[in-house]
Amino acid sequence: MAYDLDQFIADCRSTLSRDPGPSGREMIRQNLERLLANQDFIEKYCGDNVERGLKVLYENPELGFQILSHINDKARVSPPHDHGTSWAIYGQATKYTDMIEWEREDDGKDPKHAKLTPIKKIPAHAGQGRHLPERRIHSIDYPDHARFVRVTGTNLDKIDRIRIDLKTGEMSAQQAT
Ligand SMILES: [Fe+2]
Repeated sequence: MAYDLDQFIADCRSTLSRDPGPSGREMIRQNLERLLANQDFIEKYCGDNVERGLKVLYENPELGFQILSHINDKARVSPPHDHGTSWAIYGQATKYTDMIEWEREDDGKDPKHAKLTPIKKIPAHAGQGRHLPERRIHSIDYPDHARFVRVTGTNLDKIDRIRIDLKTGEMSAQQAT
């Protein structure tokens, strides 16, 4: 039987209960790739008949992790941002997403500005998952109909995150993904 959302949730719960660190997240990343290989899951949760937008597929009340689907129709380029104290695992469901990871060149003393330099650009194609550790600054760029599933260590709406304007270096509170 194909690996489904219920099994993925159960595996996330047991893995994060015993190992919330990088090796546990690597297991989740691999399991997310197994889930994305299930075409029934893709059609049911990321297909053309699914309502557009950002949806919480699951939230764990004890451990706090969330599984979200991002059902996009339109291409988008995000500004560089972080997820604060939360890690995230992105899993590409349809099309692809180019992700750039950035590092700060400044000394971090100015709370309003940051100077960034790109350190790597990695495309994620359908079926691929990627782990982003806490505070990793990244930006995403995807074409029309690119959809992805994301697991976050906690509800990002409840924690402080930053977004950086590449032209001005201005930092502000992050609201989007
Ligand atoms: Fe992000």
